[in-house]
Amino acid sequence: MTSHGPEDRLRVIPVADRGDTVPRDVVVRDHLQDTPPRLPPWLGYDAVGSRLFEQITELPTYHLTRVERALLERHAPEIAGLLDCERIAELGSGSAKKTRLLLESHLRLRGTGYLPIDVDRDMLRSSGAALCAELDGLEVTGLWGRYEAGLDWLRTHAPGPLAVVFLGSGFGNATRRERDGLLGEIARTLGPGGSFLVSADLDKSREELETCYNDPAGHSAFADFRLNHLTRLNDLYGADFVLADFVPEAHYNAATSTVEGVLRARSDQEVPVPGLGITLRVPRGRFLNVGYSVKFDDRRLVGEVEAHGFGLRARWLDDDARYGLFLFRRRGDRVNGATRRAVTHRTR
Ligand SMILES: C[S@@+](CC[C@H](N)C(=O)[O-])C[C@H]1O[C@@H](n2cnc3c(N)ncnc32)[C@H](O)[C@@H]1O
Repeated sequence: MTSHGPEDRLRVIPVADRGDTVPRDVVVRDHLQDTPPRLPPWLGYDAVGSRLFEQITELPTYHLTRVERALLERHAPEIAGLLDCERIAELGSGSAKKTRLLLESHLRLRGTGYLPIDVDRDMLRSSGAALCAELDGLEVTGLWGRYEAGLDWLRTHAPGPLAVVFLGSGFGNATRRERDGLLGEIARTLGPGGSFLVSADLDKSREELETCYNDPAGHSAFADFRLNHLTRLNDLYGADFVLADFVPEAHYNAATSTVEGVLRARSDQEVPVPGLGITLRVPRGRFLNVGYSVKFDDRRLVGEVEAHGFGLRARWLDDDARYGLFLFRRRGDRVNGATRRAVTHRTR
């Protein structure tokens, strides 16, 4: 008889080279050659970066995780009921601690399949193992690679009705052009009638945001997370960055409604990055951008997503309108409900 213990319900598949139209090293080099130089968000998430991100989520000043968890604690059964399919894929699943709330409700209703996509393989394994142990019957297929590669794998190897979720306000870590590219991929993967659940941190005052994205006294999770990007460049590409030569900080750019996490050079920097065949020059006082977090006006978010053939179905905001979960349905033949009026819920 086949056993279906927790360990039999988890597999992790490398998808790294599938659907990556641009190889990893080329993306890193192009980003470093931007003005100002920057790094793609996924570069920061090795085992150290993922652990530091978990510490960030616990900082008393970082509201995003707490508010999103509260929204899911309250509304997961209702959201799960609106997903209309058996399988949930997740972009940038990380520890999946909040997703667990949704999966628990979904499993009770109809779902059995969870397909998290993440660049951190160890995190996929540990979060997948924890979910299989806690949620009886859940089948987890971790897709190890970047979002585009995971979505390509889903289209090729596991087509069919699916919901895609994107939590942790990860959508706001991409530039407008990158978000448009990703929304196109998500729309293609879902097909008509598919559901897309995305969370977003909403715009607020400079003071609130700069408090949220800098370490409070006695903590160093944000600083260490930002500096870890230099360690990654040293490890992956043989660079020789001295961490102490950079000051990690975050500031709000009101013109673009974006919080930028940066490493500011204490002195003129000229650092060869042999593995990429370039030398990075950062003059004293200038910076390397290692974090990008767009703060949305909810109409702007809805407009961006709807432009890719989705219709808003419902949204859930906390009472202070700091954060929102938005559920869209891909317009098309399978569902007439796309024209239904969207419902807005507010919760504490
Ligand atoms: C900000 S964390 C959010 C984690 C989790 N969703 C949460 O809400 O706590 C971003 C996660 O997405 C992953 N990630 C970031 N960019 C990615 C990309 N382009 N492709 C795949 N994974 C990515 C990181 O490894 C990390 O686990």
